[in-house]
Amino acid sequence: MSSSANNKQTTAAASAAPGGTVEIDGVELKLSHPHQSTSQWIGQREILMQLLACWVMLDDSDLPLTPRLVGSPGIGKTQLGIAAAQISEKPLYIYQCTADTRPEDLLITPVLAQDGKIAYHASPLVTAMIVGGVCILDEGNRMNEKSWASLAPLLDQRRYVESIVAGITIPADRHFRAAVTMNQDESTFEIPDYILSRLQPTLNVGFPDKHDEMAILQYHLPFAEAEMLAMTVEFLQRSHDLKLDFSPRDGINLLRYALKRLSQDTQHPINRREAWREALECCLGEDAVDLDALAKRRQKTLGGDSLPLGLADFFFDSDDPLNPDRLDEEDDDD
Ligand SMILES: Nc1ncnc2c1ncn2[C@@H]1O[C@H](COP(=O)(O)OP(=O)(O)OP(=O)(O)O)[C@@H](O)[C@H]1O
Ligand SMILES: [Mg+2]
Repeated sequence: MSSSANNKQTTAAASAAPGGTVEIDGVELKLSHPHQSTSQWIGQREILMQLLACWVMLDDSDLPLTPRLVGSPGIGKTQLGIAAAQISEKPLYIYQCTADTRPEDLLITPVLAQDGKIAYHASPLVTAMIVGGVCILDEGNRMNEKSWASLAPLLDQRRYVESIVAGITIPADRHFRAAVTMNQDESTFEIPDYILSRLQPTLNVGFPDKHDEMAILQYHLPFAEAEMLAMTVEFLQRSHDLKLDFSPRDGINLLRYALKRLSQDTQHPINRREAWREALECCLGEDAVDLDALAKRRQKTLGGDSLPLGLADFFFDSDDPLNPDRLDEEDDDD
């Protein structure tokens, strides 16, 4: 990048206050406010270190990487990005990507001001670029290809974006860092390969182990009793073992509701197990009550991906008593 572009970005970064304005090539931009949150990342140190490594600059000629954070819904992808920004001691900006996100929403939006003039509002992404902060593009694959295309130069060595609306090119400050979270469900778009090749590496967020899951629940619900915490952790760990998608978020919601129900009637306190089970059904559905049965059904609808089918499976259902290859039901004393 030329030295004049460098000077331009240093001046912009130095004069930018959260929610303030900066001028780029004669156009005044109103900046977004940073995300204020002090949430921690509990356990799973390795994935946090992997994300932080992407943002290291080894030399003035080095470039930071923009990784993809992937994993089941509610597993902690956004939380991981928030925590990494906090550790990096940079202001954090989160852009929530949706199917309706247009390129100008991602960059600069013209707004009619009170005096009848046009005011240009910088998106959280562009604000992070200007002030040298971190931008999390949250749920990136909900956004269509056209919007991603406007980010191609930002995500390679060019590190700038071009706003058609404001008619300016905005270079990213050298401290600017980004990460994209991706969701795995049907309501997402295929991101084109030329963009995926700029979103590297892929960091897979996995489920926490028993100890970490307990610490996560205790962190979010420090007032929860040990017995209620233990029931929830046991449920979540069992569901992870069975490759079901119940997440720490599900655990937090169900436990929060169970605790609220328990607190309602101090005269005739409802049984803890009863309250917990009611919360399980209300938050995660009746199916969640019998995880083994749910896992078997899931396996069947997935076409028995994880279990090889025998010849008998073509003639009988896998749980049909007449099926000679039928697996014995596990005893479930819960
Ligand atoms: N390691 C962790 N430390 C602290 N909190 C966690 C951790 N993992 C998950 N959580 C909590 O679990 C909840 C879900 O996390 P988060 O919203 O980051 O999930 P997500 O993967 O981004 O979900 P989605 O795919 O729906 O966007 C949040 O309340 C978050 O604080
Ligand atoms: Mg998220």
